[in-house]
Amino acid sequence: MNSIPPDQVDESEACPINGLTFAPEWAGTNIFLKSLKVGDRVDELFAEELPAIAKAAPVRRDTFSSGRSCARAVIAEAGLPACALPRLEDGSVKWPEGLMGSLSHTNDWAVAAIAVSSMCEARSIGIDLERIKPLEEGVIKLIATPAEQQELSCAQSPEWHAMALFSLKESIYKCLARDFGKFIEFHDVEIRELAGGRPILGLKNAELAQRFTTSQLELRMAVTPLHVFTLAWLRNE
Ligand SMILES: CC(C)(COP(=O)(O)OP(=O)(O)OC[C@H]1O[C@@H](n2cnc3c(N)ncnc32)[C@H](O)[C@@H]1OP(=O)(O)O)[C@@H](O)C(=O)NCCC(=O)NCCS
Repeated sequence: MNSIPPDQVDESEACPINGLTFAPEWAGTNIFLKSLKVGDRVDELFAEELPAIAKAAPVRRDTFSSGRSCARAVIAEAGLPACALPRLEDGSVKWPEGLMGSLSHTNDWAVAAIAVSSMCEARSIGIDLERIKPLEEGVIKLIATPAEQQELSCAQSPEWHAMALFSLKESIYKCLARDFGKFIEFHDVEIRELAGGRPILGLKNAELAQRFTTSQLELRMAVTPLHVFTLAWLRNE
């Protein structure tokens, strides 16, 4: 998909979301996106956010604070005032009324997506950013269904292919888990035809399939030499 060898990419310059910022055409609905280099941004946190990292290690303080700063930068880009984004019990963000969003970070980059409910077809969104690296056989078996493993075994670029599969499932989890109210296992969802860039979704868990239809869930992915970035959004039907 991308011919630049990863070791020739200057990571400090490699924006994982390829300059996507306000991406209605790519996302299929009005979603604002931003990425930010991870650093110590604890000073920028709101008081309500601090308990989440009270006992956290420095790396976690960096990723948490950078995720929040990134989200506030997106919120500002959407023309909305800055606000606190506390963590909920399940680990997700408490977004203010009328706003939905999602965060993800590697140790190097934070990404945030938000959408204003009144100007968006989505009911919820989930994003995920992963640094491309080989996944061990055991991890592949854990995340991929037998059919997905079969597709992976024929993939021309198995590294990004496997990471894209993992990332899409993380995005789907973030998008659906609160609504579903239950843990979603990796094998509850099946994603085919990743190599063509237009992933096809299957819901293998009967309860999940009863609650959501595959046509309700939109999936997007962007692959750069170093990262896979994915987005899932649930259509408001
Ligand atoms: C929760 C989970 C999806 C987070 O993903 P991750 O790759 O570990 O970490 P990321 O950096 O991409 O995302 C972390 C952010 O996700 C958000 N998040 C955490 N839990 C969440 C949840 N239950 N719902 C939505 N968003 C959540 C938070 O904003 C968090 O960042 P923060 O703590 O700094 O606020 C993951 O740890 C997990 O539990 N996965 C297992 C379940 C799963 O993926 N099943 C697949 C079903 S198809």
